[in-house]
Amino acid sequence: MTGPQPHNQKEKMSTGSDITPTYELETASRAYGEGATRVVALDGLDLTIKRGEFVAVFGPSGSGKTTLLQLLGAMDRPSGGSIQFEGQALEGLGDSALAELRLRAIGFVFQQFNLIPTLNAAENVEAGLAPLAMSRAARRETAANQLEAVGIAPRARHLPTQLSGGEQQRVAIARALAHSPRVVLADEPTGNLDTTNGELVMELLARLHSELEITLVLVTHDEWIAERADRVLRLADGRLVEDSAGRVAEGVAR
Ligand SMILES: Nc1ncnc2c1ncn2[C@@H]1O[C@H](COP(=O)(O)OP(=O)(O)OP(=O)(O)O)[C@@H](O)[C@H]1O
Ligand SMILES: [Mg+2]
Repeated sequence: MTGPQPHNQKEKMSTGSDITPTYELETASRAYGEGATRVVALDGLDLTIKRGEFVAVFGPSGSGKTTLLQLLGAMDRPSGGSIQFEGQALEGLGDSALAELRLRAIGFVFQQFNLIPTLNAAENVEAGLAPLAMSRAARRETAANQLEAVGIAPRARHLPTQLSGGEQQRVAIARALAHSPRVVLADEPTGNLDTTNGELVMELLARLHSELEITLVLVTHDEWIAERADRVLRLADGRLVEDSAGRVAEGVAR
């Protein structure tokens, strides 16, 4: 496979603002279960996320934040409505096309770090590159560079149990970035960290966002990050109740 090429390209070359957005959601919904146990986790979201945006997502427990990230990450499909990634409708893609998209374009950072306990830091980053057609030497070099970029190179041979929580999360960020994704999705990446390490991880993500020009969607409870983000979304009961860039996103004239 050559990797997912956005068909239905809507790019107009005139100005930067006309570039196809990273995401376009139209009344996107996700319901779980049937009958009495049915839960509408996301309820008709209309949302556009532009390329390169840093979006912070807030909301109480159960409001649909993780559900939204799973849909954006092509780990799941909407049960209603549409989600376009770079102009391509995700709900129309099969499992292998979604997997390919995740592999090429998207990096994930989780609250629990999700490192492989039997692999050291460098091997964990390399493991993320294994499905790509890269030589062993190229994987090693990429992993070393990524660990350097997140400031953890001196710990490259340490197992996860020999690393602090903040260090483990930095390794996980290196892994998420190793394949040069266009989007990074982070689900409460500081949820298991103390304040100091949490701030270090947030600063790192914010810095990498501006250096690498990735689209960053970050679920968090850290209100101070709202000042660093380009845009703040708030969910409640599966609905978007606040969008700091709503007028822009909707294309409403001022
Ligand atoms: N696989 C599932 N099956 C059934 N219900 C689910 C499933 N995943 C999530 N839900 C329900 O969907 C709703 C939204 O869940 P979600 O995990 O998206 O919330 P969240 O905002 O991430 O919460 P938290 O802050 O606690 O992580 C919740 O009511 C949850 O119980
Ligand atoms: Mg969650």
